[in-house]
Amino acid sequence: MPELFASLPLRDLEAPNRLAVSPMCQYSCETDGLPTEWHRVHLGSRAVGGAGIVMTEATAVEPRGRITPHDLGIWSDEHAAALEAITRFIREQGAVPGIQLAHAGHKASKTRPWDGNVPIQPDETDPDGASGWEVLSPSPEAYPPFDGDRPAMRRADRNDIRGVIDAYRAAAERSLEAGFEIAEVHAAHGYLLHEFCSPVTNDREDEYGGSFENRTRLVREVVEAVREVWPDDKPVFVRISGTDWLEDRESWDIDQSVRLARDLSDLGVDLIDVSSSGIHPDQQVPAGPNFQVPLAEAIREGSDAAVGAVGGVTDPAQADALVRNGRADLVLVGRQFLRDPYFGLRAAAELESDADAKWPVQYRRAVR
Ligand code: FNR
Repeated sequence: MPELFASLPLRDLEAPNRLAVSPMCQYSCETDGLPTEWHRVHLGSRAVGGAGIVMTEATAVEPRGRITPHDLGIWSDEHAAALEAITRFIREQGAVPGIQLAHAGHKASKTRPWDGNVPIQPDETDPDGASGWEVLSPSPEAYPPFDGDRPAMRRADRNDIRGVIDAYRAAAERSLEAGFEIAEVHAAHGYLLHEFCSPVTNDREDEYGGSFENRTRLVREVVEAVREVWPDDKPVFVRISGTDWLEDRESWDIDQSVRLARDLSDLGVDLIDVSSSGIHPDQQVPAGPNFQVPLAEAIREGSDAAVGAVGGVTDPAQADALVRNGRADLVLVGRQFLRDPYFGLRAAAELESDADAKWPVQYRRAVR
């Protein structure tokens, strides 16, 4: 079995190691979805810090797909041009820049976490004066009671669905122009694509609701659109919620996730990034070290897809063991990379005999 610092072949791309920065919203744009100096320093320092793959935060494919008015977006050429400086720097550090393409569905138009994470109605503003908007939902009647307040919702009709697919396709084209080498479709955490997949939030009676086939139609159509424009020599990832963690009702579970992973593999998806939860506030999430790894393992065993494990990884030896023991092909680390932007360098110093070669020349006097 490979180890954490073995390279990861992904089509013609080779990630230098199997440690990735997990996508993490920074809510640090003005209100135009354009990256700021914060994004440049935040993503750039983690590339310096030894991650093999640096994934952007959830990046909205259209303005109403933002969680908050301050999220990153990629719905115009201006966005692609602004992101290019960031991808160039990441590549210069020897890391691979990835972009998470997202649509927040009915969890959009919220205030930032530090402002309460509550819906902003279309006639309201957040504390910075940014307006809310009407959000898109598969089934407004099935909206789970998040935060007490219901957002202003629009039931996605055929035109909306077509628009979402087109927005993903255009966003993938722009991501390529911006220099990204991995496109990750965000289909987890209770956002739009997961909302269609889960029976908790989808009670539609058209071809996008009901059966497994129908509920997963939108994510498959989005992946097909992305694959259409994303070059054959570059990988596509999909982040899914492996389970809704809701035992007491019909919901999305690991068996459906394995089945979806097989379908997505057939459509040219290279890696399933296995997270969980986010669909309903009643979820019972067993948080702790490696808490989502069994979901990743089940998908790895049940499909041809490579898998990324994420959740509760804080220690280099722990990350290394996940790869060595064949439990995951890639380890994504979130909060530990916020505590320590140089987590990858520390991991190399702890695990590798040739750590010097893995550190930036500018920092080498500090390896040991
Ligand atoms: C996240 N997470 C997340 N996930 C995602 O798919 N897209 C996103 O934009 C975000 N945003 C985000 C912001 C912040 C501040 C945190 C802490 C988390 C989830 C994240 O990628 C990861 O899956 C979880 O944090 C679990 O991994 P860790 O933190 O235990 O390593």
